[in-house]
This record gives sequence, structure tokens and C-alpha cells, in this order.
Amino acid sequence: MSNIEQTLSIIKPDAIERNLENEIKEMFKVNGFKIINEKKIKIEKSEAETFYKVHETKPFYSDLCEYLSSGPIVVMILEKDNAVLENRSLMGATNPKDAEEGTIRKKYGISIDKNSVHGSDSAENAKIEINFFFKD
Ligand code: CMP
Repeated sequence: MSNIEQTLSIIKPDAIERNLENEIKEMFKVNGFKIINEKKIKIEKSEAETFYKVHETKPFYSDLCEYLSSGPIVVMILEKDNAVLENRSLMGATNPKDAEEGTIRKKYGISIDKNSVHGSDSAENAKIEINFFFKD
């Protein structure tokens, strides 16, 4: 049975800075994702804090929010059968050092902070994250 889902993807500042936007989008497309909506934006630290609120008790929270708001990002709604899981598997492990060959983070990630992409971790969070960036 098919399970068409949408998930939120962010191309982070480190990847935009290195002009990897098109290469990363191509990886999504060749892996069967449709880009339903997208925009390039720069957010305030306070917006990053709201977006990453689930991490607010973590020691890396402040740096993480500082980083996501440090330069332009591309936010996208991706659609595919089982999009949430499929995107997580295409991105690879959070730390590029642990990511498998062929994944986005293995190919482009620099460090656990500069790991090039974010993706929703569950279908429930995907809805919340999509709504955060694409309200209307
Ligand atoms: P992301 O998928 O965007 O979700 C939260 C981000 O926090 C994660 O990618 C990493 O870039 C960043 N991060 C920094 N340190 C850690 C850590 N120790 N564990 C998990 N995520 C971390």
C-alpha cells in the first residue's frame, strides 16, 4: 500500500555557502522526491529557537540556533512514498563521520553542526515543521 507523505527539508547555511543547493536538490529528485514548495530565506535566531525547541535543554541548543540563523537557508516540502523515513535515510547519520556512503551528509557534511541538511524526524513533526515555514 502506498503511503505518500510530506516532510520538511532544510539545506543549511554551510551547504548554501558552498553553492551545493542544486546538487543537493538533484539528489532528492533522483531519489524520487518531488519538491512541492521551496523558498530561500534567512531567519532570526529567535525563529531558529522556536523551530528547534525540542532541543532547548541540550548543551548545543544555543550554538545550533546561532548557526541556523547565520546565513541563507533553503526550506523545502518534499513528497514521496514514506517521505519522512526515506529522507532520513538519504540524509544519513546526524554526524557526517558516521554517515553511510552515498548519503547527503557523508558527501557534503563537514561536522555534526555543519551537516548540510535537516529533515523532520517523524510524520507528526513533519506537519509541525512544514506549518512553521509554510503557513498558508
Ligand atoms: P538536525 O537534524 O538539524 O537536528 C538538530 C541538529 O543539532 C542536528 O541536525 C545537528 O546539526 C545539531 N547537533 C549539534 N550537536 C549535536 C549532538 N551532540 N547531537 C545531535 N545533534 C547535534
